[in-house]
Amino acid sequence: MRIAVFGASGYTGKLAAAEARRRDIDVVLVGRGAERLRAAASEAGFQDAEIRVADAEDHDALVAAFRDTDAVVNCAGPFTRWGEGVVRAAIAAGSHYVDITGEQPYIRHIFDTFGADAERAGVAVLPGVTDDGLPSDLITALTAAHVGGEAEEIAIAVDIISGGASRGTIRSMGALRETLLDGGLGYEDGQLSPRATARRKEIVLPGGSAPTPVVRFALPAVVTVPRHVRTRQVEGLASQEVYEVFTRLSPEMAEQVPEGPAVAQRKAMRWAFAVEVLGIDGRRARGEVRGSDAYGTTAVIAVEAARRLAADGAPAGVLAPAQAFDAAGFLDFLGDHGVSWSVGEAAEA
Ligand SMILES: NC(=O)c1ccc[n+]([C@@H]2O[C@H](COP(=O)([O-])OP(=O)(O)OC[C@H]3O[C@@H](n4cnc5c(N)ncnc54)[C@H](OP(=O)(O)O)[C@@H]3O)[C@@H](O)[C@H]2O)c1
Repeated sequence: MRIAVFGASGYTGKLAAAEARRRDIDVVLVGRGAERLRAAASEAGFQDAEIRVADAEDHDALVAAFRDTDAVVNCAGPFTRWGEGVVRAAIAAGSHYVDITGEQPYIRHIFDTFGADAERAGVAVLPGVTDDGLPSDLITALTAAHVGGEAEEIAIAVDIISGGASRGTIRSMGALRETLLDGGLGYEDGQLSPRATARRKEIVLPGGSAPTPVVRFALPAVVTVPRHVRTRQVEGLASQEVYEVFTRLSPEMAEQVPEGPAVAQRKAMRWAFAVEVLGIDGRRARGEVRGSDAYGTTAVIAVEAARRLAADGAPAGVLAPAQAFDAAGFLDFLGDHGVSWSVGEAAEA
């Protein structure tokens, strides 16, 4: 099995390359600068790694770099700017594709644009395979299944104790500032829309005992969940504090910080999702998933997703995580990396 890590010279790309190496996967480091890729290879502990040079805007070079690989892990953001060409090239090369974006409008665009091409090529394309997009999508699938698989309302709330953001995160989230300020898309009556009605004003965050006030937040799962759960409504939520941390970011701030959080800071990070589902028969279920080290866990998740696609296959097309993977199986796999989850009955919201 051979996996290409695109953007392997970046902060998260290096973690993904090191994780692929740790898993004994044959990994090719791809990016626009040979020297930075070589430095990344030595930093990740394998000087002998194969390096291929391709810019995100050079279709032919990207296809040549991906041609003999089973899957591509794209770590080069902002994805709204660079992602589409990499998806197109992975499909043309016949490789499965995952990326580590958190950019909600980009994820929607990939679903809207590449479904037929991916199906024709027989490959799976999964945008947003991170510590955010994947666990929130899988826990929502499991929570909805608890009330029979059909929902009236789904609320997905994120909680983050941040140990700092990488330059890449600051650039990508800074570029999305308007979307983040607006709260992003909601899903209502078959449509994704920034004008969908905001419903929940408070929710009990994971580990909490009382409801916390929340605001609408541009979560990837709002786009992916309606692909596999029949539901009338989905909304993404965050506390005012988390909303402010992200909406304060601007691309210029990226130049004033280190490449990414130091190891100790990374390990101190905590993230969690609470999901509440109102079933069509009035039953309620609640799911929680939590973990740590947003960047290290994202590398583990993206590499494992690419490995599973290469080893086990998946339906061809643009897929949500729960369409490609067994939800409980993947979350249980993450147990060895500090991720825990639960689903049960819920009280009245
Ligand atoms: N939970 C999440 O949602 C989550 C978690 C982790 C990361 N992410 C996302 O992942 C992305 C990367 O973050 P990061 O911190 O790793 O960023 P980073 O350190 O800035 O790395 C970005 C990478 O993209 C490459 N790149 C940029 N433009 C390119 C182009 N035109 N052609 C080829 N390569 C190009 C860079 O190559 P050079 O070295 O040549 O500049 C570098 O390898 C961001 O969008 C971030 O938001 C999301």
